[in-house]
Amino acid sequence: MKHLTYSKAVQELTHSQELESRTPLAERGGVRSEAARWRGQPVFVKTLMVDDPDARARFHHEGRVAASLSHPGIVPLLASSPTQLLFPFIEGGTLRERLEGGPLSVEQATEVTLGLLFGVMYLHGQGVTHQDLKPENVLLAGGRAGRDAVRIIDFGMSHARHLPLDIHSGTRMGTPHFMAPEQFYGMRGDARSDLYSLGVLLFDCLAGMPPYQDALGWLAGIHTNRAELPGPDALHPLLRCALARDPAQRPHSAPAMLRLLCLARQELGLSALSCAEVAELGALAGGPLAGSGFPGDGGGP
Ligand SMILES: Nc1ncnc2c1ncn2[C@@H]1O[C@H](COP(=O)(O)OP(=O)(O)O)[C@@H](O)[C@H]1O
Ligand SMILES: [Mg+2]
Repeated sequence: MKHLTYSKAVQELTHSQELESRTPLAERGGVRSEAARWRGQPVFVKTLMVDDPDARARFHHEGRVAASLSHPGIVPLLASSPTQLLFPFIEGGTLRERLEGGPLSVEQATEVTLGLLFGVMYLHGQGVTHQDLKPENVLLAGGRAGRDAVRIIDFGMSHARHLPLDIHSGTRMGTPHFMAPEQFYGMRGDARSDLYSLGVLLFDCLAGMPPYQDALGWLAGIHTNRAELPGPDALHPLLRCALARDPAQRPHSAPAMLRLLCLARQELGLSALSCAEVAELGALAGGPLAGSGFPGDGGGP
């Protein structure tokens, strides 16, 4: 894994007077979000509103992780100060808003999952795990449910191998429906916890609801009453594998999960990736995309 590097593209925000047409959107956990304009472009602004050392450290961590990332599937940090983070404003809404209108088609659900996997492969290659992948943290640029429209946001819970802060020892918890069982038990998730969340996301896109009505009961090991697997049979081995309680039974890496998804799409007559795309993604992920994608076949974590 590479070391985190800081993109030179991130500006230092010295005067919040530079922000124009500020429109408050929400305030949560001591952070206010607003839509605004900055240097002629629409921006999404997060402002830390509380003077609490933990909150300050978490906010700083979120900014540092976001600043280190540069990938088309991840919303970049444009500028920051100790109490403000500026991102480009992405029009189109969240995947949550999209799913409120009902489930996606198989083509759309697998396209969105492809887009998510591209971003997550990049993240994991950088030594970053997101740890809070859920429909609220996925934007669809232009409202399109396509691989190129997916934008991952919100690194507030993320873990970066080369940064000191461990959010899991902090106060913010993930959402039970999308959280992997090991995260529920207070362990810092590894890459496979993100793959669990991606399995729930694919399930949710296909079914219009997540797999466990009583997510806390499932996480605590009280029951295993999962809703029937949605979508065509071709996607079921991937869903079953990604949703495994034991991380060792999940796809061993994001490229392995991508491979399973591509094979399923092929079986369904949907366009798979071109050889050039696979090679490029393999290089991004730090190695060839080999093996069947299932645990124990084609390389370890
Ligand atoms: N760059 C952006 N462009 C447009 N909307 C955004 C952007 N970033 C976040 N949002 C919206 O704001 C919400 C909260 O942002 P997020 O970064 O997830 O903060 P929180 O820590 O409160 O979850 C998102 O669910 C989404 O609706
Ligand atoms: Mg969020």
